[in-house]
Amino acid sequence: MTPGDTSLSSASDGTGDAVLGDGTRTIHAGMPEGGDGTPLATSPVFASTYQLTGEPSGPYQYGRLTNPTWTVWETALGGLEGGEAVAFSSGIAAVSAVLLSTLRRGDVLVMTADCYYASRRLAGGLLTDIGVEARIVPDADIARHLDGAKLVWLESPSNPKLDVCDIAGLCARAHDAGALVAVDNTTSTPLGQQPLLLGADYSVASDTKALTGHSDLILGHVACRDAEKMAAIRTWRNSTGAIPGVFEVWLAHRSLMTLDLRLARQAENALALSEFLARHAAVREVRYPWLTTDASYALARKQMRRPTGLVSFTLANEATAEKFLATLKIVAVATSFGGLHSTAERRARWGGDDVAPGFVRFSCGGEDTTDLIADVAQALDAASAD
Ligand SMILES: Cc1ncc(COP(=O)(O)O)c(C=O)c1O
Repeated sequence: MTPGDTSLSSASDGTGDAVLGDGTRTIHAGMPEGGDGTPLATSPVFASTYQLTGEPSGPYQYGRLTNPTWTVWETALGGLEGGEAVAFSSGIAAVSAVLLSTLRRGDVLVMTADCYYASRRLAGGLLTDIGVEARIVPDADIARHLDGAKLVWLESPSNPKLDVCDIAGLCARAHDAGALVAVDNTTSTPLGQQPLLLGADYSVASDTKALTGHSDLILGHVACRDAEKMAAIRTWRNSTGAIPGVFEVWLAHRSLMTLDLRLARQAENALALSEFLARHAAVREVRYPWLTTDASYALARKQMRRPTGLVSFTLANEATAEKFLATLKIVAVATSFGGLHSTAERRARWGGDDVAPGFVRFSCGGEDTTDLIADVAQALDAASAD
């Protein structure tokens, strides 16, 4: 298989090509063409400088522009997204690349009120300061605020409230109004959902989360199907220097090979946990889009390819939530999500999100389901006994 092999890279693009499973796709994603003596796995190439004589030409000229380790990683990501991909030093660097390379003074940005707080902070702060009009509105109101919009920013399922919006429907409305659409796909990963195939112009993600899943690196990417837009994103990365480190990219590619396996266990845990929480008297407002009783279940089933591991729920108040978190034994109290270690946190401790003081975001890892549920059960019992 080669990096450009469409049967591998476009398994879900509706072209009728042979559809390979997610395990096969992630294990082979970005693998260079080989032959006898070629290593099966890629190795990092640590080059800032390449030999370069005469007129600059060839794929590798200087380390801030391109790197062979980035090439295989971006090929892998592009294949899974159903487009082309550019890697960034962090998720927020990828978010900034789309926002700042597309928007100019006088332009209108429509952003879902339910997206990652640092993306909203960019819209309400830096972008507003340079003269962009930022309309931050709930998903349900987006279609009413498209007048004059240049870019619509969606996030689905959203972090931390896990709301699901109709990506294809909103893309159609936005395009009719002459706007571009970017979707932050962090919580889903491209195995969970392919925004480009639902009509988005950009798919953006923090690869710090489930995509790499080992809680040991910070990365992000932007994917796109349009060569001109992709070139602008590449130029942005070169101009601002928001480049990924080679070692992190290599680690990320190594981690990607187990994405299918990790997501399967994380989703199994998330479903069992959300079912358990939904039955527990001390718990309110459990959100997991793949719980059949969740308000987003039908839409999630329709637009997502498979479930992932993030669950949220609300406990009585701050004290109860803190007691619950402090009593967990297996589950670590930590921010971020998507890793193999289960983690949980009270989101209101950061400010910035419109959530209740007892709101908990819970990221299911790869532990055994019975151990995870038992840990949550004992912590809930202790927290609700007071
Ligand atoms: C939905 C979402 N987008 C973007 C980011 C930013 O990613 P990073 O922390 O890799 O910069 C995060 C981080 O939590 C996130 O949750």
